[in-house]
Amino acid sequence: MDHKSDNITWHHSNISRDDRQKRTRQRSCTLWLTGLSGSGKSTLAFALEKELYARGIASYVLDGDNIRHGLNRDLGFSDEDRQENIRRIGEISKLFVDAGLVVLAAFISPNEKDRNMVRELLQPGDFNEIFVKCSLEECEKRDPKGLYRKARSGKIPNFTGVSGQYDIPSAPELIIDTEQLTIEQSIAAIINYLEERNYFT
Ligand code: PPS
Repeated sequence: MDHKSDNITWHHSNISRDDRQKRTRQRSCTLWLTGLSGSGKSTLAFALEKELYARGIASYVLDGDNIRHGLNRDLGFSDEDRQENIRRIGEISKLFVDAGLVVLAAFISPNEKDRNMVRELLQPGDFNEIFVKCSLEECEKRDPKGLYRKARSGKIPNFTGVSGQYDIPSAPELIIDTEQLTIEQSIAAIINYLEERNYFT
């Protein structure tokens, strides 16, 4: 994408990503958790952060609800705003990966094209799409924030799964089915994925 400013220069750091990684216990990357509201993205991201912390792995959660309280407080839920939401998170993920962290990004990110934009922004191997799979029926049953009820009564426009679409990931690196797995089993599956691909050093 073009930028608006002229007369800007890129400054190079004296410390490379490789240098930083030598001081940590992980190969940095982004785990991108996508799924419907109520599918379990945030629950998994924060449980995973705790498990990684216990293992001495430096990670950080970027969570949709939280980011929309601050950095992205100017964005709503139109397609355009969601795209900008995901673009900014993609850029932040890129910075955090360069800083050496395992980024746990938990965003509905309903549009495959937006998720692919982030995939392309990051280097190969730095973006791992995890589909947090849960049927709309089950998400509606859980309805932890009462949002589906509100959406069904027409109080939330463009609500994902009800009046807004969700593109099921066509080739995610990992699928976590939260209707089949417990939180512990889900975390174990993600840890196993990271171990198999040598993200822990
Ligand atoms: S997106 O689609 O990726 O830009 O959304 P995200 O930044 O992850 O924010 C999702 C949370 O916002 C609340 N919320 C809505 N979700 C979907 N559609 C609409 N219209 C909407 N309005 C508010 C909701 O709490 C989402 O949180 P989760 O954790 O997914 O339930």
